[in-house]
Amino acid sequence: MKPIFIIEHLEPKMWEWCVIEYKNISKIVGAGNLWFTNVPLKDFAKVKKFGKVFSESVKEMKLENACLLDMESGEKLLPADASKFNYFIFGGILGDNPPRKRTEEELTRFMKNAEIRNIGKSQFSTDSAVFVVSEICKGRKLEDIEFADEIKVKINKIESTSLPYKYPLRDGKPIISKELIKYLKKH
Ligand SMILES: C[S@@+](CC[C@H](N)C(=O)[O-])C[C@H]1O[C@@H](n2cnc3c(N)ncnc32)[C@H](O)[C@@H]1O
Repeated sequence: MKPIFIIEHLEPKMWEWCVIEYKNISKIVGAGNLWFTNVPLKDFAKVKKFGKVFSESVKEMKLENACLLDMESGEKLLPADASKFNYFIFGGILGDNPPRKRTEEELTRFMKNAEIRNIGKSQFSTDSAVFVVSEICKGRKLEDIEFADEIKVKINKIESTSLPYKYPLRDGKPIISKELIKYLKKH
């Protein structure tokens, strides 16, 4: 059985940036394998095309064989370990620099039934974290994935902006949603 990927929405608003990431996550794992929890009813329409949407928090769901991804965990997710989980839970949190341990504060400490794992000690965006976990589920080890520690996005001929998060690479290029690049150029 394919695992379900769960994004617990934890931002105070459904920012456009969140919607772009959630859409990208749906492309990575497929809408049939994706749940969004803790979504206010007024925002259902913005994300319902990308997966199953719940106003209920994952904290209230009694899920068995669940793994919560938190960079503060002391244990790394391994392929053999990943195959035993039915659910992978992520914080729907935008990156912050330096990280504020929001996953631990707002999610991990309430999830007594879940096992907690990291995918390294650096911060990924939620969509990149989902990509990495989906690769580990396919049997790839974290060590076998190439990463950049930070990426620069060119805004125009003169300006560029830096995203201080870890990004997986494919053929030496960061895997990042094209829509996010467009969004960054526009704003
Ligand atoms: C942008 S990160 C949020 C990190 C946030 N700044 C914090 O302090 O917790 C969004 C989500 O991606 C997942 N994530 C990101 N990097 C991770 C890592 N190195 N190990 C495990 N999970 C990670 C977590 O589920 C996290 O809630």
